[in-house]
Amino acid sequence: KTFIRPRHGCVFLWRLLADIVFIVDESTSIGNKNFQLVRSFLSSIVSGLEVGLTNVRVGIATYNDTTTARAYLNTFHDKEEILQFIKNLPYNRGGTKTGAALDFARKEIFIEQKGRRKGVQQVAVVITDGESQDDVTDQAKLLRRTGVTVFAVGIQNASKPELDMMASHPPESTELLQIAGDPKRTVFVGNFDALKSINKGIITDICTSDGKENELPCLTARKRENILRFLCSVSAACEDVQTDIIFLTSIFERIPAKEYQTMKDFMKSVIHKSTIGRNKVHFGVMQFSNDQQRVLPLNRHYSKEDMSKAIDEMQQVNKSTHTGKAITEATKYFEAIQGGRPDLRQSLIVITDGKAEDYIVRPAAALRAKGVVIYAIGVLDANPAQLLEITNSPDSVFNARNFDALKDLENRVILKLCEPTG
Ligand SMILES: *[C@@H]1O[C@H](CO)[C@@H](O)[C@H](O)[C@H]1NC(C)=O
Ligand SMILES: *[C@@H]1O[C@H](CO)[C@@H](O)[C@H](O)[C@H]1NC(C)=O
Ligand SMILES: *[C@@H]1O[C@H](CO)[C@@H](O)[C@H](O)[C@H]1NC(C)=O
Repeated sequence: KTFIRPRHGCVFLWRLLADIVFIVDESTSIGNKNFQLVRSFLSSIVSGLEVGLTNVRVGIATYNDTTTARAYLNTFHDKEEILQFIKNLPYNRGGTKTGAALDFARKEIFIEQKGRRKGVQQVAVVITDGESQDDVTDQAKLLRRTGVTVFAVGIQNASKPELDMMASHPPESTELLQIAGDPKRTVFVGNFDALKSINKGIITDICTSDGKENELPCLTARKRENILRFLCSVSAACEDVQTDIIFLTSIFERIPAKEYQTMKDFMKSVIHKSTIGRNKVHFGVMQFSNDQQRVLPLNRHYSKEDMSKAIDEMQQVNKSTHTGKAITEATKYFEAIQGGRPDLRQSLIVITDGKAEDYIVRPAAALRAKGVVIYAIGVLDANPAQLLEITNSPDSVFNARNFDALKDLENRVILKLCEPTG
């Protein structure tokens, strides 16, 4: 089977290994209210990362005229701890010595005694309102020279006239650029509220930043107006992939309407984050019960809007089904005659409560033998043994404790779908 390898870097977001230090401006000009937005911004970035001593390590420093290490790279052991800490991150006002802060980060934080790891990418994210009282250029260079990739997030006072902002901060020649050393790693936001919209871009960029320059399509392709220099969504991960994906759902005995909607939202969101098109990703949806089946074949819709609409129109059925039978039924929709592209990579995503009443080992094996990769998403108290029977690989089993937890799985599922088969 041919399968185009996704672009390097973007794909392994959830397996990202990095030491990330946030260097946060706490000067007077930011103000209490905006500092609260900075806290939320940090939280949302950290929430999106697999934080832990073996995955992503996070450190935090705040600075005014002096720099204070709030957390070293080996201070926190899990995400909850650090999120709690960020909630109460102190704000003390004062001046803005960004250069000194970079110097401090290099000498006191990005060091092995404080948790810096060898062979792991090193990232600094500097968040400032951009009016440093000392020289940043040399300090930034020194920090970068020790192997740290530096991102700079600049925040402007939104109430300043826009012209003033553009004139005093022409994007190519600002302090941010001096800090980051590359315009692709700088972000301006017009106000603190705008921080809310950029966290995903930063995360994805961090994940791509260990690739070579020409492997950073996310950074150049998606220049957004409105100051966002590099918003890159997860969809970039699937951009180069041609693949057929069928969701197999509704094998539940009675789930509340709200949960059913959550499941629809999950499918729509996965679709939304993929690049759909005749020569790109095709999606199909199958919903089964004993007496009804609804099938949206792979070649019915080639746009996100049409797919979403079709999913919205799905009605809940309340009878459980035989999963094995459903999988056998799904087999034919991967065939060319029903709109499948058997020469490409094909996947079936079974969303199940894992209580199939029939025999599923054989139907699942038969489908896999045709080259279709099966993923199982178990919701509620799905039986893990049965999920494994469906996929035959623990790597392809996802567990959502409940329907809401599907949301957390989204990116992992998408990225998995785009992962090279090896
Ligand atoms: C700068 O921050 C430190 C630590 O947060 C604080 O102790 C100090 O008072 C602040 N400096 C000024 C001038 O406010
Ligand atoms: C933003 O600018 C306005 C007008 O120049 C000023 O009144 C306000 O205090 C500034 N706000 C902050 C947080 O600096
Ligand atoms: C299925 O059950 C849900 C929740 O009990 C209910 O809201 C829905 O109307 C039912 N649908 C059908 C087709 O019976």
